[in-house]
Amino acid sequence: MAFIWIKPLLLCLLLLLVFFDLSQATSLSTIPRKRNYEENYYYVIEVIDDSFVTPHDVEKLLDVQHEGQVGALENWHVFSIRKNLVARSDSEDSHDRVLARYEQLKSLRRSDSSNQKRSMLQIDAIRSVEKQYLRKRHKRAPPPIPTPKIDYNPSTVAASLGIADPGFQYQWHLINPVEHNDINVTGITGKGVYAAIVDDGLDANSDDLAANFFAEGSYDFNDHVKVPLPRLSDDTHGTRCAGEIAAAKNDVCGVGVAPDAKIAGIRILSGQISDVDEAEALNYAFQKNQIYSCSWGPPDDGQSTEAPKGVILQAMIKGIKEGRGGKGSIFVFASGNGGAVDDNCNFDGYTNSIYTITVGAVDRTHSHPYYAEKCSALLISTYSSGSGSYIFTTDVGKRNCTSMHGGTSAAAPIATGVFSLVLQIRPDLTWRDLQYLTMISAVPFNLNEKEWIRNYAGRLYSHKWGYGKLDAYRIVQNAKTFKNLGTQVYLEMPVIDVDEIIPFSDHGIISRINVTQKDIDNVSLAHLEHVTVTINIEHTRRGDIEVDLISPYGTVSHLGATRRYDEFKGGLNNWTFMSVIHWDESPIGEWVIQVRDRQNPENSGTFKNWMLKLWGGKIADASSIIAAPSPSPSINESPIPIDESTQTSVLPTVPTQSSIAFESKSNTWIFAVFGMGMAFIFAGIAYFAKKRCWDNRGRKGGFFSRDTYESLQSGEVTNGGDVSLPLNKQFITSRELFDAFGDSSDDDESTQVVFENAYMDEYMNDDEKKVDNGSYTEGMIEHRDGGSTSGSNNEDHQ
Ligand SMILES: *[C@@H]1O[C@H](CO)[C@@H](O)[C@H](O)[C@H]1NC(C)=O
Ligand SMILES: *[C@@H]1O[C@H](CO)[C@@H](O)[C@H](O)[C@H]1NC(C)=O
Ligand SMILES: *[C@@H]1O[C@H](CO)[C@@H](O)[C@H](O)[C@H]1NC(C)=O
Ligand SMILES: *[C@@H]1O[C@H](CO)[C@@H](O)[C@H](O)[C@H]1NC(C)=O
Ligand SMILES: *[C@@H]1O[C@H](CO)[C@@H](O)[C@H](O)[C@H]1NC(C)=O
Repeated sequence: MAFIWIKPLLLCLLLLLVFFDLSQATSLSTIPRKRNYEENYYYVIEVIDDSFVTPHDVEKLLDVQHEGQVGALENWHVFSIRKNLVARSDSEDSHDRVLARYEQLKSLRRSDSSNQKRSMLQIDAIRSVEKQYLRKRHKRAPPPIPTPKIDYNPSTVAASLGIADPGFQYQWHLINPVEHNDINVTGITGKGVYAAIVDDGLDANSDDLAANFFAEGSYDFNDHVKVPLPRLSDDTHGTRCAGEIAAAKNDVCGVGVAPDAKIAGIRILSGQISDVDEAEALNYAFQKNQIYSCSWGPPDDGQSTEAPKGVILQAMIKGIKEGRGGKGSIFVFASGNGGAVDDNCNFDGYTNSIYTITVGAVDRTHSHPYYAEKCSALLISTYSSGSGSYIFTTDVGKRNCTSMHGGTSAAAPIATGVFSLVLQIRPDLTWRDLQYLTMISAVPFNLNEKEWIRNYAGRLYSHKWGYGKLDAYRIVQNAKTFKNLGTQVYLEMPVIDVDEIIPFSDHGIISRINVTQKDIDNVSLAHLEHVTVTINIEHTRRGDIEVDLISPYGTVSHLGATRRYDEFKGGLNNWTFMSVIHWDESPIGEWVIQVRDRQNPENSGTFKNWMLKLWGGKIADASSIIAAPSPSPSINESPIPIDESTQTSVLPTVPTQSSIAFESKSNTWIFAVFGMGMAFIFAGIAYFAKKRCWDNRGRKGGFFSRDTYESLQSGEVTNGGDVSLPLNKQFITSRELFDAFGDSSDDDESTQVVFENAYMDEYMNDDEKKVDNGSYTEGMIEHRDGGSTSGSNNEDHQ
């Protein structure tokens, strides 16, 4: 009997084998081709979905040569013509032969629009023709920082703490024995996770990286070879970033944040590339590479306004839709190093894309590094250079290390490392889930800075730090119980035509739009995530324009801030700004945009129009269903009054729902404060007892001995228990206090958000109450005036 089945079984197996062979073959065919820009012009041509036009038809129509599909993008193809076949006069871009031919065909088609001839329909099927130009992408290289005020040399640190000299450079971003500001490492090591560093190469021969190097996910788009080795003298950036993510557990240069993750290199920054190369890079091996760490972008010169468009934008969308088995590629971008020249990450279309996670920098003393860019698209911050201290990581060379890595470039890979830990625990998280999880797990800090605002959802946000800093332990804990967000939907509101000259005043122009329950029901928007505003402003000096978005409950996003070096005369042409500040706010009500010009009276402009787009989730989880706010007698629902006499808009002093909740809680504060006090005392006793114990045990080397250091990353130990860092008296801050507080209650919680409520309570009970909601809304205009232009005084200026 059993033998009867053998034949069909074998046949099936054979078929399977053939099938796999074929799929292997097709995947091979998408290996990027080397292009010869010296001899050819290249064009990327998009054809409409399901169109019957073949590459061969396009070849005939436009007299070009087909070079292949663009990476994973089925409807996008590369074509070329040989330069020497083009007459000199036709080589000018203004008379580009292919573009001219396309325009000619289109006008032919327009004049004969009812013609159903095949060639005519084929013209319709071509959606766009983009000529390819070579361009250099800019590394977000470490900007210089002033010499340290503190000597961070490990032996000096050890001496000052009265412990043994560790005899090696410790990585303070993992374990910080001095300020205790670090990412709060966990026992998770990123096993089974594949991250790619899109940069200037990756030294696969480094002893620190060889073990984790992921060749299959790697490619060199500059030299068109398989292994993206650093080849130019300044190709150190990618290797350093890669080391931060996945340097192996050995004795070379410390360890990566995810020392068991695999790391691929995609080399694009060592020379000029075209848009099609970049598009292919961003989708390279996107079923294998899960996270793309990008520490580059348009120049951070305070005068660029560039966004990925056409084929690059398409690749990003393809990535989030189809990458990582449909969960979406994770694109992590550095916020940018143009802080000193007023650059702002909302003028960079990569960082302000809803598809990317934008990471800002904070230094080890929790100061804002002068280089780090602010914006309303900034989601999270993590550690990098500043206050005289850099990031210590792997360098190019067999066993070389650097102690000089920094800039937002160094922050993005740390975030990538942390996200690798998260994906180990929860590989099923989508790109949006990870953004949401990052937001709810963020830890706000420096709470007495006036830049913190509390949104309607009750969360703290700062244009400087995003929702706070990354805490590896928290995000991993929260990941364990996180409920997926469901499908993304968006509500696109109609374009509002304004067409008014922007007065030189503090008032500027205010334009409003109402979002109704009907609008959101129509698109089944269940909870709000990103908000984008696409705007047209004509102006003779772009750097003078200020754009603010105010949500129905008075939360302000500074979409566009002034940039003193931006002399561009064209204004903002269909520019899309993004804000992550309104996440989980109710979108129902009046959204206000305020466009102002308060610089250089000799320049002026016109606010043409704007369009609001609300993005969010379709399937609501219980905590974030949008309900129309129930009108309460204490809520003043009047629209924003404009005080014409002082030319200042006064924002509503509407207490938000959350602030009402806080007020009703005020009597519980007493208990809470009392509780905190008790906890403080107990924590103090427990801590000193522990420290004593620790000291008495006389473990050699103190807390950053190599033993401890390694065990922290060994995958077995979490940083609770025996290896928890002893704290010096001066370091017992509310943070550690909270640690003691939070720990006892976390364990049996199984809600979506393990830590968030705890930290929110902490801030609600914060005795400084600088972020108290009531006083915040009143001071908002003041804050708006000062907030986006002047930095706070603890910035680390050169
Ligand atoms: C590695 O470090 C050594 C010693 O500092 C140096 O001589 C060498 O040039 C470095 N190697 C590379 C590839 O930078
Ligand atoms: C929005 O709705 C409110 C209340 O119904 C109304 O007073 C206001 O004029 C509306 N605003 C716009 C821009 O339509
Ligand atoms: C609902 O959305 C559709 C497009 O999805 C639009 O055509 C229609 O006008 C909308 N209806 C309302 C009532 O807004
Ligand atoms: C303006 O930008 C939006 C969103 O990015 C895009 O859909 C639209 O096509 C653009 N319009 C023009 C005229 O460029
Ligand atoms: C750091 O991790 C520990 C567990 O190891 C956790 O208890 C603590 O809350 C975390 N620190 C912060 C600031 O959240």
